[in-house]
Amino acid sequence: MLRIAVQSKGRLYDETMELLSEAGIKLTAVKRTLLVPSRNFPVELLFLRDDDIPDSVATGTADIGIVGLNEVLEKQQKVEILRRLGFSKCRLSLAIPKEIQYSGIEWFNNRKIATSYPKILASFLAENNIEADIHVISGSVEIAPGIGLADAIFDIVSSGSTLVSNNLAEVATVLQSEAVLIGNGRRLSDDKQAALDELLFRIEAVKAAESKKYILMNVPKAKLSEVLSVLPGIKSPTVLPLADENWCSVHTVLEEKHFWEIINKLKGAGAEGILVLDIEKMVL
Ligand code: PRP
Ligand code: ZN
Repeated sequence: MLRIAVQSKGRLYDETMELLSEAGIKLTAVKRTLLVPSRNFPVELLFLRDDDIPDSVATGTADIGIVGLNEVLEKQQKVEILRRLGFSKCRLSLAIPKEIQYSGIEWFNNRKIATSYPKILASFLAENNIEADIHVISGSVEIAPGIGLADAIFDIVSSGSTLVSNNLAEVATVLQSEAVLIGNGRRLSDDKQAALDELLFRIEAVKAAESKKYILMNVPKAKLSEVLSVLPGIKSPTVLPLADENWCSVHTVLEEKHFWEIINKLKGAGAEGILVLDIEKMVL
């Protein structure tokens, strides 16, 4: 069985579970134990703290893992990124008390910066020729300036509300992070490799569908070519006859971000009864 290390709770947990569920992987009922097998797919999930996931994959305790890119870069373990997953997006940023007049990156010279990401911070500071004192703390980094433990922090920012409630202002973004699927480059047994290939194939199908919508509409045959010229079809749209022979039905797949601009053009071109549906999976 392919063993996947995943976060047991925290920022990645919900979306990791959602991705696996959309990929059709069902877990046995036992939850909150460390190791949970799937009941319909040859994988088992190893629930860990996110900080421990890169190491568990590098050492082979798990075959693959789902973890934030921030953890992968900080831990500097021997792992490879198999796929970016596009969820749990956040950034690693420097923040300072908001009342301070920030003059630019040189402000950090000789300052004390609290963080749980000392390696990423150290390489950023070195690249920018800044000499600062890095103070490592493992949690609640955001309170450090307020209690006089540090001048600034370097931490994860997602919504930004943690910074706001601690009177901190984000002054430099160092890294954009998101969940990634990691492996360790070791040869897998044939069974495990087959499970990994199938998992990657399913993730591809889930991801491909995510930003897309399926749309159906009725079009007078006289207007068909005008309507088709508006559609940036993936390949060619499906055109089906209707009981009324002056009309036909057109089906196609749209990028969600183009939706509103195209929908107005379609109406203008004579399309009616436009239906927009979510696509669950898409195999290209
Ligand atoms: C991070 C970070 C902040 C918070 C920022 O902690 O340390 O506390 O998230 O998010 P926001 O901008 O949406 O307020 P996280 O929840 O990842 O916990 P951890 O650092 O203990 O792993
Ligand atoms: Zn953590």
